[in-house]
Amino acid sequence: MRQPFFYDITLRDGNQSLKKPWNTQEKEIIFNHLTELKVQGVEVGFAAASEMDFEACKRLSQIAPSDIVISALARCLENDIKKAADSIKYATKKRIHTFIAMSPFNMEYVLNKSPEEVRKQAIEAVTFAKKILGKDGEIQFSVEHFGDCIENIDYVINSLKEIVKAGATIINLPNTVERTRPKTFINLVEKVYNALPKDIIISVHNHNDLGMATAVTVESYFSGAIQLECALNGLGERAGNTNMYEVAVALHNSGVKVPLNLTKIYELALTISDMSGVKIYEKAPLIGQDALAHRSGIHQDGAIKTKDMEKGAYRPIHPSLIGRKDDEKLGFTSQSGKTAIFEIITEAGYPITLQEAQRIAPFAKEIAEKIGELSTKNIIDIYFKQVFNVEGAFKLCNMEKIENGLNLHFMYKEKEFDLKVQGNGPVDACIKAIQKSGFNLELLHYEQQALNEELMGSGATAMSIMHFKAPNGTTIISRGKDESTVKANIKAIFNGLNIIENSKNIL
Ligand code: KIV
Ligand code: ZN
Repeated sequence: MRQPFFYDITLRDGNQSLKKPWNTQEKEIIFNHLTELKVQGVEVGFAAASEMDFEACKRLSQIAPSDIVISALARCLENDIKKAADSIKYATKKRIHTFIAMSPFNMEYVLNKSPEEVRKQAIEAVTFAKKILGKDGEIQFSVEHFGDCIENIDYVINSLKEIVKAGATIINLPNTVERTRPKTFINLVEKVYNALPKDIIISVHNHNDLGMATAVTVESYFSGAIQLECALNGLGERAGNTNMYEVAVALHNSGVKVPLNLTKIYELALTISDMSGVKIYEKAPLIGQDALAHRSGIHQDGAIKTKDMEKGAYRPIHPSLIGRKDDEKLGFTSQSGKTAIFEIITEAGYPITLQEAQRIAPFAKEIAEKIGELSTKNIIDIYFKQVFNVEGAFKLCNMEKIENGLNLHFMYKEKEFDLKVQGNGPVDACIKAIQKSGFNLELLHYEQQALNEELMGSGATAMSIMHFKAPNGTTIISRGKDESTVKANIKAIFNGLNIIENSKNIL
């Protein structure tokens, strides 16, 4: 399959749309990133636009690696072309990019020129550019407003044939303003591709006015365009240019060998956002905060089950493809479930089982219904309350370890129990006391661990974990924590009693 040629326009189309265009130093930083990304061509600026842009073009052409095409933009005017040529004279691979509008609307209302005058101007400009660049460089010609050339496509094609004869080897077809359906544009690209000699490189340059620039560019590639003009973070006039990352990943996912260093994408996107002042919106594909966040229970379940696989149930790529280190995030809303609780608490470093997550989820949902998405801190608070301090009919009032047993004072609803019980250690004594009081409680498993509460502002405490058999035969997991191991045990027993009671399995 033909390899796509990524031609970056961040420093020209992107730059001209900024509230504060970049100076030479800033352009140099971005240019260095572009070389690391391994784009094959960079449009470094519009040399005639300002002295600053001219200087920037010159500087970048001086530092450009020899294998990158360095291009400067010029209108079909001799002065612009001279400036462009001068500005990139130090580059090894030089290109002048000249353009003029050929849509009937623009020729009539903006240029105020007849189609014949426009054709003549384009041919003369290309001839002139070719002459001053010589064998040393190449000429790119753009049909500005190509997407609006439906009615006069024959005129455009005939003109392009002459423009090619005059020396242009790259023909760029811009959707200068995205107005209609992608297929209409792609049909036009196909017509030009079929009409021009096969050694001519067809390029597309799509603006994102209707949000379809990525789709238009990707499909244009499959319809004959090799050069894809894209911008980092989709910067560019109005709603921007085609987003480089989206095109690269879409082609990669379609089995095309993409010659870019994709792992640079995520960090670069953040840098460009900082440098341009253009924020990355939450829902931005691939690079947005939310691009790998799952909030519904079903999606969270699928995401976790396929977390380490290259293909994910609910994501287009593995985050590492674009160098994203933050894994798929789970946010907890009223739509979420046990998987999110389990993952968020585990990620925060606290012990939890899926059964406990299932028990806690309704409490979290109830709060989320009122306040929206819960923060990790909100979830941890709920976890501590519902795991270590389970409220219910049983209330531990006091306990005292005595020789071979325990003094236990507790309440069940309004009823008070005060017992002195002997046992094989405090756990055994406590369970015997509960049973003696008329409650059925069967301990299946018991262990002690340390609980690191650093995140909650204290150090390590003792945690006891107990499994009880509930009257319906299921196993209930309960925990207790305290600085004293004995108290941690007794609290675990009372938490277990309340869990069972609250689950309506009457003792
Ligand atoms: O959008 C456009 O048509 C352009 C041209 C100069 C290529 O940016
Ligand atoms: Zn443009």
